[in-house]
Amino acid sequence: MQDTTRPLNAVPTDIAYPKRIKTFVMRAGRTTTGQTRALEVLGPQFVLPFQVDKPFDWGELFSPERSHLPVIFEIGFGMGDASAQIASQQPMSNYLGCEVHVPGVGALLKKIEESNLHNIRIISHDAVDVLEKLIPKCSLTGIHIFFPDPWHKARHHKRRLIQPPLVELLVSKLKVGGYIHCATDWEPYSKQILATLTANPHLANQSDATSGFSARPDYRPLTKFERRGLKLGHGVWDLIFNRVD
Ligand SMILES: C[S@@+](CC[C@H](N)C(=O)[O-])C[C@H]1O[C@@H](n2cnc3c(N)ncnc32)[C@H](O)[C@@H]1O
Repeated sequence: MQDTTRPLNAVPTDIAYPKRIKTFVMRAGRTTTGQTRALEVLGPQFVLPFQVDKPFDWGELFSPERSHLPVIFEIGFGMGDASAQIASQQPMSNYLGCEVHVPGVGALLKKIEESNLHNIRIISHDAVDVLEKLIPKCSLTGIHIFFPDPWHKARHHKRRLIQPPLVELLVSKLKVGGYIHCATDWEPYSKQILATLTANPHLANQSDATSGFSARPDYRPLTKFERRGLKLGHGVWDLIFNRVD
């Protein structure tokens, strides 16, 4: 029913306007029984709450003995295939995965259980907020952003994750020498990412190829989707940059 007490062009004061454009839309997705069980049983142990007043203390989150180990932060892990494989192959790193899609969180929890992983934690919240409010400055060794939503249509480009202010924020959270690794299968976005990372004065490209792109490092597993795309002749572009100062 229309609210007839308010003129149609008046700005309603009871609606919270988002502060900034989100890089995602919440997808309706079915959570399977197995994912629901994983969320209930393993969630309390592995999924961190978003508490603005409590920035992360890595020793507290992982364990005091692991507080000196490198921390890798992944943005948008999807169903967590790469996250679980990398965490399993790198037991001497602490891995923090961030994803807003709840079935994906359940899927990664299942993989954590199957592979008996102890070096991984999850936060299910907008990664931009997590970076701004919870991740201490100069504390990350690596940031993984694999296949960020390409937002194909020009009117949606503003939603793309890799933009100069976000890169500045990422750099501020990296240790000097730490790296940002992005991969995308959308060529126009690969060029935008390359230009944006190259423009940041604190980053140096690891690639010595004239293209500026890197070969896929062994630690990044091929996803099913990527394997299918490669068979069809589609490209994938990896970009790896280090913080130099
Ligand atoms: C195209 S999918 C890629 C998933 C996965 N990395 C892969 O390679 O299969 C991008 C993912 O990023 C997540 N995402 C996008 N923006 C995000 C944000 N600001 N914070 C957390 N997750 C985000 C989406 O929910 C989505 O699952």
